[in-house]
Amino acid sequence: MKIAIIGAGSVGMSLGSGWMKAGHSITYGVREPQGTKARQLKVSHPGAEVTSNEEAATASDIIVLCTPWQTTEAAIQACGNLEGRTIIDATNPLKPDFSGLDRGYTTSGAEQVADWAKGAQVFKAMNQVGYAMMDNPKLAKGQKPVMFVAGDGNGKGKVLALVADLNFEAIDAGGITCARLLEPYALLWIHLALNQKLGVEFAFGILCK
Ligand SMILES: NC(=O)c1ccc[n+]([C@@H]2O[C@H](COP(=O)([O-])OP(=O)(O)OC[C@H]3O[C@@H](n4cnc5c(N)ncnc54)[C@H](OP(=O)(O)O)[C@@H]3O)[C@@H](O)[C@H]2O)c1
Repeated sequence: MKIAIIGAGSVGMSLGSGWMKAGHSITYGVREPQGTKARQLKVSHPGAEVTSNEEAATASDIIVLCTPWQTTEAAIQACGNLEGRTIIDATNPLKPDFSGLDRGYTTSGAEQVADWAKGAQVFKAMNQVGYAMMDNPKLAKGQKPVMFVAGDGNGKGKVLALVADLNFEAIDAGGITCARLLEPYALLWIHLALNQKLGVEFAFGILCK
């Protein structure tokens, strides 16, 4: 699949590497396609394209948002017309000091993203673990991390398949309003990692009897 990754930071590069290993084509959308960071990205991610947000979005089957919350609206606007497109929203609507969520709990960042990206199908996913766990991490034998997907529309199947390609147990959590649960759940991961000193190399899983 052709995947546009908007925002080539920690999350964007980790997802890009993971999906390239799974055989997908990656186009990064960046703010300065001719800048130094873009040149470095081409060297560190050979095989990936690096261009503007709009060119990346237009050239791809699916668009993945990996931008800081504070610049996400601008990043979406720079993608151009997103009507009918499928978006994975990997952002978390964090306050700048990480002390809590800027959106919630009667709405969510994903619902805000859907409002900014008029006419697109928006799916919340890949926001629930740290970036170091996104690139097909090697876990103890038999373990598989869970990744919930929330959103509405017929694009959900391909989103679940892409999440599974990163070696997650991809679970359909329901419609877009379930992002109201998945964003605070991501905050729990951040709290455990940073405040409770669990480190960044863990993920949640589902155990069944
Ligand atoms: N870090 C994690 O472990 C983690 C895990 C799950 C979810 N998240 C969420 O994922 C998002 C990204 O986090 P991150 O840690 O990857 O942040 P990051 O390392 O700071 O990377 C953000 C990237 O977005 C780019 N960017 C900013 N505005 C842009 C725009 N308008 N158009 C295109 N690119 C733009 C930045 O590029 P410039 O060089 O132009 O600034 C930077 O490369 C956040 O919403 C975060 O809450 C993070």
